[in-house]
Amino acid sequence: MKNILNLAKTTLLWLSFTGLINFSTAIGQDVANYKNTVSIIPMPMEVKNLPGEFKITTATKIYVDPQNAELKNLANMLSKHLKTFNYQVPVIERKGAEAERNAIILTVSKSPSELGKEGYKLLVSPQRIIAKATDPQGVFYAMQSVYQLLPAFPTASVSIPAMEVADQPRFGWRGMMLDVGRHFYPIDFVKKFIDYLAMYKMNSFHWHLTEDQGWRIQIKKYPKLTQVAAWREGTLIGAYTRDNQKFDNMRYGGFYTQDQIREVVAYAKERYINVVPEIEMPGHAVAALTAYPELSCTGGPFKVAQTWGVFDDVYCAGNEATFTFLQDVLSEVVELFPGKLIHIGGDESPKTRWKACPKCQARIKAEGLKDEHELQSYFIKRIENFLLTKNKNIIGWDEILEGGLAPNASVMSWRGVSGGIAAAKQKHEVVMSPNSHLYFDHYQGRPALEPHAIGGFTTLEKVYSYEPVPAELSKEEAKYIKGAQANLWTEYIPTTQKVEYMIMPRMAALAEVVWTQPQLKDYNNFAYRMNKEYERYEAKGINYSRSAFNVLPAVTIDSAAQKEKVSLRVLNYPASIYYTVDGTEPSLASAAYTVPFEVDKPVTIKAASFTEGKQVGKTVTYTVTIPEKKQSGL
Ligand code: ACM
Ligand code: ZN
Repeated sequence: MKNILNLAKTTLLWLSFTGLINFSTAIGQDVANYKNTVSIIPMPMEVKNLPGEFKITTATKIYVDPQNAELKNLANMLSKHLKTFNYQVPVIERKGAEAERNAIILTVSKSPSELGKEGYKLLVSPQRIIAKATDPQGVFYAMQSVYQLLPAFPTASVSIPAMEVADQPRFGWRGMMLDVGRHFYPIDFVKKFIDYLAMYKMNSFHWHLTEDQGWRIQIKKYPKLTQVAAWREGTLIGAYTRDNQKFDNMRYGGFYTQDQIREVVAYAKERYINVVPEIEMPGHAVAALTAYPELSCTGGPFKVAQTWGVFDDVYCAGNEATFTFLQDVLSEVVELFPGKLIHIGGDESPKTRWKACPKCQARIKAEGLKDEHELQSYFIKRIENFLLTKNKNIIGWDEILEGGLAPNASVMSWRGVSGGIAAAKQKHEVVMSPNSHLYFDHYQGRPALEPHAIGGFTTLEKVYSYEPVPAELSKEEAKYIKGAQANLWTEYIPTTQKVEYMIMPRMAALAEVVWTQPQLKDYNNFAYRMNKEYERYEAKGINYSRSAFNVLPAVTIDSAAQKEKVSLRVLNYPASIYYTVDGTEPSLASAAYTVPFEVDKPVTIKAASFTEGKQVGKTVTYTVTIPEKKQSGL
């Protein structure tokens, strides 16, 4: 749990964070170059613009290879999508390799093999669109590109500019985690979340299914998990405080039946997304222990947690019943999720109870373990061994490095990147999800202008800037970095609308982190392409955040000269910033910001971003206080 007390720190620090960013005014000399940039996110590997365009008409047909049910399914999806533009486009099996006109052709062939299983070619000419890959997964990604090339809203005439795209992802693990423990979302929204992943060519959905505040997966052998552990008797009101906590006393919860889980897994599979379930152990288990207190060190009783944080009560590692329970649970879990990896958590598991527990201490002695960290390692290795009998491997948060990594484990690096580096050096596979860049529960703009978040300061640009392969790794070690994902912890995210707000548009930036070749990354170009993406969000009714349109002020202080240099920047593009220092609302008639300016007396700045003559972000009010004379020279 995830920086609960960071909020105050954040509010103090965020100015200095913004101050660290390299300032450049987003006044667009690049806009002319970007006019021809393709409106695809993530940016493909190669794009060649060609003259002309492909027009969808009432005569347009989709052709697929004969007897390929998977392609036919994709073609039906495409046809359904085109219906939203009021075109009924039939799906037809191709007879031979004839050059159909007015055609969208989905085809699988041995070439382009150099683009791999996930790569594709997309050839758009005035006569036809060809989406070609070695595997239907690549065709599916070509289709996502086609969707992005279509107008955002239905228009009278629908066309796609002619071009040739050759594309393939940089990383094999491209994903997002959703915590459904702190807050629970209906199955239809989980599918929507999967749609969003698919739209950005991601392939991994990490479903965080068990937490202190709620157990969310039906386990037939243990009915109390859904009768008891899935429900809490209230939820903390407002931001976390150590003392004087207030609760709403409203019963809250829910769970997914095994049938619903199968439905989600199948839905994800159709979109080439692997679902990685997370069953937390040994910590974050208060809900399960409420139902089965005999699995704890103290015997309880417990209450499904109503507040946030890290709790001392965890599964007892000295009790054989704990392992019987978890093995039974996992036996049902592995039947539901066909992927190779099961996430077993492993994070934030205090050793307090284990230190005082005779059973845990006896286990330490019997197994010749050094301490409670080695006991955790024993715990995880035992679970790994069990899952190996089910032909599954484990992945866990980076704490599973402590006390020794289980032999086949993959590591998810969240406390920065050091866990990922250590694991890669030990030749273990790594997924990067550092809380420095990829925690989407963090603020994405000035906290004063944002809905409450847990803390942090992770702007769209900060996400975009993330490089998953740490410079510390050799070329050989770098191969163990399988990719990256962003995590959405949901303590302060009670609604699906807020989930959308927190992930969009940062998920688009993540898409370029994990898909696009690093030499092709260019933040301003991305922000330029986002303009159409925002329209698409609007067309889809996604409750996206417009934080990138709000001016970020920052100061550098010259105490000796008693001057402060004020910088203003904004993360949309193209944009012009106008500001006032007399308390009035900024307008096009106000001062245009170009370079950082000095102030030598207290002043309140009001600034906003303007595009094409219109204010596009909120007005940001920022008061600069001048260092006191007596403090100068300190
Ligand atoms: C985590 O954020 N505790 C993995
Ligand atoms: Zn114990």
